[in-house]
Amino acid sequence: MTSIKPIVVITGSSSGFGHLTALKCAEKGFQVIATMRNPEKAAVFKEVSPESRGNIDVWTLDVTNQTSVNEFEEKLKELGRIDILVNNAGFAMGGFVEQLPVSFYQKQMETNFFGAIRVTQAVLPIMRNQGRGKILNVSSISGRIGFPGLSAYVSSKFALEGWSESLRLEMKPFGIDVALLEPGSFQTNIWTSGMELPEGFDDPDSPYASYSQGIWKALNQETHGNPSHMVTQMVKLMNKQELYKLRYPVGKSVRSTLFMKTILPWKVLENIILKTILPKSFSHQPKKGTVRAQRRRNNHES
Ligand SMILES: NC(=O)c1ccc[n+]([C@@H]2O[C@H](COP(=O)([O-])OP(=O)(O)OC[C@H]3O[C@@H](n4cnc5c(N)ncnc54)[C@H](OP(=O)(O)O)[C@@H]3O)[C@@H](O)[C@H]2O)c1
Repeated sequence: MTSIKPIVVITGSSSGFGHLTALKCAEKGFQVIATMRNPEKAAVFKEVSPESRGNIDVWTLDVTNQTSVNEFEEKLKELGRIDILVNNAGFAMGGFVEQLPVSFYQKQMETNFFGAIRVTQAVLPIMRNQGRGKILNVSSISGRIGFPGLSAYVSSKFALEGWSESLRLEMKPFGIDVALLEPGSFQTNIWTSGMELPEGFDDPDSPYASYSQGIWKALNQETHGNPSHMVTQMVKLMNKQELYKLRYPVGKSVRSTLFMKTILPWKVLENIILKTILPKSFSHQPKKGTVRAQRRRNNHES
């Protein structure tokens, strides 16, 4: 396939930001390599106009599977050129630290962090030979600030942030630009079908029961933004001629939260967070549920 259109590769194109960005890019005349781990989900593109459909190629890519990434790399070599990579594939693992076996953290890192590394490593030789390219890593507000009950997700995004800073410094001399997008909360599948929780997360006998209810309440009270804002920001960056800034926060209240983190002592900020989440009736009196046993069961089942 030869094309003078900018070629953009997007991971996790079967839903949410990835899917919507692929559609928008195709509409704007990019050649889109829309990758997804389950090719049966390519049906998400079936309603697309014939002109846009001609701009979309669906490739199978599971970012956690090195064989899948190797096959992707071979296809990329045939393509010979890539202008933009969007490391978007991800999911959210919920659960309190005491409940989560290490294997759950590993699973989270495999997709959200190691996945981005694998795909980037496949793309870099081509971009480096071209002497140009853009890499957009989809991080999160959770890559800048911790949140209880989401430590695995937060860790994966903090890791992505640090890695992206290093990658950006490494790639600048080769003409490759790297940026982080940091969305707040948006209405995609990530907080529903895309979310994984350990067994026992909602156990009413758990000492964490009212705490986790408070978190869910806070998450559900928040109005999730329209993902089209994120898509607009992503496409704007793809078209940008000037060099990128390192970070692009996206969404309602993200900038103000990050600003508060820079000016307020952490102790003050954490009190604000906990006041929003912890029910007034919260008591840390021991409960009969044993979290360790649950964690062991989760470990066995994973
Ligand atoms: N929505 C938000 O509020 C929000 C906020 C901050 C950051 N983000 C980030 O935005 C990115 C996209 O999430 P989203 O909100 O659009 O959620 P989403 O609708 O659940 O989409 C996630 C996408 O990632 C794919 N994926 C998951 N594991 C994968 C794997 N191993 N290999 C390849 N693809 C995989 C999913 O594929 P399947 O369809 O096969 O599951 C899906 O296409 C994620 O990195 C997420 O952390 C989202």
